[in-house]
Amino acid sequence: MLTVQGLGLQYGKRILFDEVELQFTRGNCYGVIGANGAGKTTFLKILSGEIPAMRGSVSLEPGNRMAVLKQDHFEFEQEEVLNTVMMGHRELYDIMLEKNAIYMDPDATDTDGMRAAELENKYGEMGGWITRAMPPSC
Ligand SMILES: Nc1ncnc2c1ncn2[C@@H]1O[C@H](COP(=O)(O)OP(=O)(O)O)[C@@H](O)[C@H]1O
Ligand SMILES: [Mg+2]
Repeated sequence: MLTVQGLGLQYGKRILFDEVELQFTRGNCYGVIGANGAGKTTFLKILSGEIPAMRGSVSLEPGNRMAVLKQDHFEFEQEEVLNTVMMGHRELYDIMLEKNAIYMDPDATDTDGMRAAELENKYGEMGGWITRAMPPSC
């Protein structure tokens, strides 16, 4: 579902990786292992689209979406696991926060109510409920 073809990147003369061919398939968990400075973070940044590759391509199968959490475990220390996972998809998480804030507000107006309904629709369309209910695949 995520395909890496002919991926290559170098900084100056230092080639971090080249001609990487990989297929990440559904239901599997993958770990990237390597010495400090080997290029793990850079590779993940290319996968997530944060930085472009110099050569090759990364393609996500249509109908799938990428969610990414930053490499900073302190940032999520105060959060429930489920919220942390959902934060990986920022847009969905923001919709959830906004609609929940309306539901919690005793002074919410009719307009707020309509906004909540709109957000609820969007949340459903984006698979919000499925995301919450889905057991982790690993
Ligand atoms: N923007 C950059 N410009 C130049 N060199 C970089 C840049 N980002 C990372 N590097 C270098 O690329 C190498 C790989 O870095 P990184 O992907 O962070 O490694 P890892 O996560 O495996 O420890 C390191 O030598 C690092 O100094
Ligand atoms: Mg790193």
